[in-house]
Amino acid sequence: QKPVTLFELGKMRAEGRKIAMLTAYDRSFAALCGRAGVDAVLVGDSLGNVLQGQKSTLPVTLEHMAYHTECVARADGRAFVITDMPFGSYHENREQAMRSAARLMAAGAQMVKLEGGEFMADTIRFLVERGVPVCAHIGLTPQSVHQLGGYRVQGRGEEGAARLRADALALEQAGAALMVMEMVPATVAKDVTASLASMATIGIGAGPDCDGQVLVLHDMLGVFPGRTARFVRNFMDGAAGVEDAVSRYVAAVKDGSFPAAEHCY
Ligand code: KIV
Ligand code: NA
Repeated sequence: QKPVTLFELGKMRAEGRKIAMLTAYDRSFAALCGRAGVDAVLVGDSLGNVLQGQKSTLPVTLEHMAYHTECVARADGRAFVITDMPFGSYHENREQAMRSAARLMAAGAQMVKLEGGEFMADTIRFLVERGVPVCAHIGLTPQSVHQLGGYRVQGRGEEGAARLRADALALEQAGAALMVMEMVPATVAKDVTASLASMATIGIGAGPDCDGQVLVLHDMLGVFPGRTARFVRNFMDGAAGVEDAVSRYVAAVKDGSFPAAEHCY
């Protein structure tokens, strides 16, 4: 199976084919995701929650992310590999961000993801100009949980929606090729997606009208012991096994049946 490239992801967006993304933190699951047709795997800093048992993603370090990226990259699977830049590893200045991104790219990441709106545009441009593909992340940004006052829906109201639209445009102009939108009203995510010229939007709790979808693997397999959000569907229900569950997720993203109304805000 031919590996998915950033070029192919852009083509999928242009042709209206949905991008199916899941988190993966190790070789076995990354390989399984590739076999099941997942287009991109995210080595998410959600590993702080689901692997390490932390209460937030804040304690996750660059070395944790590099280690799991190496594990995922060794799967040699079909999926494009994206790695989260952890809290504190890109906030000081763009040089620090480049240093952190280089560490993750050397570990096997093909793209890095960082959280933040317009204020991250300079950093993103600096990375992209130097050959580092960037995925942005707006809406609920878990690294800012203490500032946001919890894991709450973002972009509500006229002002919130306008903020997200302005952020998305600035991030696209800075050169981000993908952008995760997390926990925003479906109508706002649809509007933002339609307003962009080239950047592909990947939703999580952002409705069905994004260019793609992402979920945390442990959430959609129903193995995370904590409470899960409204936007999660347990794909093990009715599945013959783990790989079948992931295949069903891919199929549901591709045909637009996931997310359904009950998963949206
Ligand atoms: O860390 C993560 O898993 C993420 C996704 C949920 C988008 O950032
Ligand atoms: Na993350």
